[in-house]
Amino acid sequence: MKKILFTGCGGQIGSELLFAFRKEYGNDNIIASDVSPKIKQEILESGPFISLDVTDRQAIANAIDEYKVDAIVHLAGILSAVGEKNPQLAWNVNMNGTVNMFEVAREKGIKRILVPSSIAAFGPDTPHEMTPQRTLLYPTTMYGINKVANELLGSYYNAKYDMDIRGLRYPGIISHKTAPGGGTTDYAVAIYFDAIAKGSYECFLSENTMLPMMYMPDCIKGTFDLFHADKSQLTDATRYNVTAFSVTPKMVADSIKKHIPNFEITYKPDFRQAIADSWTDSMDDHLARQEWGWNPEYDLDKMTEEMLREISLK
Ligand SMILES: NC(=O)c1ccc[n+]([C@@H]2O[C@H](COP(=O)([O-])OP(=O)(O)OC[C@H]3O[C@@H](n4cnc5c(N)ncnc54)[C@H](O)[C@@H]3O)[C@@H](O)[C@H]2O)c1
Repeated sequence: MKKILFTGCGGQIGSELLFAFRKEYGNDNIIASDVSPKIKQEILESGPFISLDVTDRQAIANAIDEYKVDAIVHLAGILSAVGEKNPQLAWNVNMNGTVNMFEVAREKGIKRILVPSSIAAFGPDTPHEMTPQRTLLYPTTMYGINKVANELLGSYYNAKYDMDIRGLRYPGIISHKTAPGGGTTDYAVAIYFDAIAKGSYECFLSENTMLPMMYMPDCIKGTFDLFHADKSQLTDATRYNVTAFSVTPKMVADSIKKHIPNFEITYKPDFRQAIADSWTDSMDDHLARQEWGWNPEYDLDKMTEEMLREISLK
């Protein structure tokens, strides 16, 4: 791979993952794109950026031709909470945007595309503890429905057109550089910022809502590693379970209290509680560990220490 197109690079994950790829391939070989005009200066200054709406198939084709793109990291999307407020937008971006990427890639002979999936692929019927990779997938959110369809569509294109589409089911991703884009696990980012700024946090999930999570450096490493893994090792390429640790809001608060003893948390669950309740508590990610060496480095306390230090520096 010589030239890689990134979609949705202005988002929480893209704005960091992009730099791991620019470091590896050279700045000019990673084409950043997003539909949003609010793109950080460091992205614009470090390499090519184009304004690209993934629902516009012709615009994708033009970008691929112009930059001679031969692989894609497709991160553009509408996340769970925003998707529940505007399901039609979520369908358009998450479904039509993804099929556009696959179709243009197929027409132009591009094989490798990375598309993240999510724990939102799981639903209320899915076993909630140590959820297997192959399991019941009947999500009740528009975002979850889109993610299951994307996983299946990727496998279909791989089988039918000999493509090389890969994906991982991210849990909630916690980071301090770019604000999350409207997901159900966003509390686990906001809690750290409010702990530093106000010494207190009002959580939109109840105190014992257990969800799998991961710190951004592990997300970047895992995504980078799956993208580069030997294809012959991947037996279930579009839907790898990956997780680092499972936590409740109370557990995150207790971890923060080790550094800020007076930190206070209150709970006021909103519509996101029902979404969180339909998701899994913990995941079995042994296949990712076996097949491409997934091995997260951060647990809750190690992440808390770094999050509080980095946010304090801001
Ligand atoms: N952050 C998480 O906790 C998490 C968890 C599970 C899965 N994921 C998945 O990871 C991927 C990246 O997520 P993220 O957290 O960076 O999301 P984000 O919401 O922070 O960023 C998404 C980006 O997509 C862009 N976008 C929206 N509509 C677009 C369009 N029509 N054309 C082009 N760009 C468009 C937005 O402007 C935004 O910059 C998504 O597929 C998401 O579903 C994220």
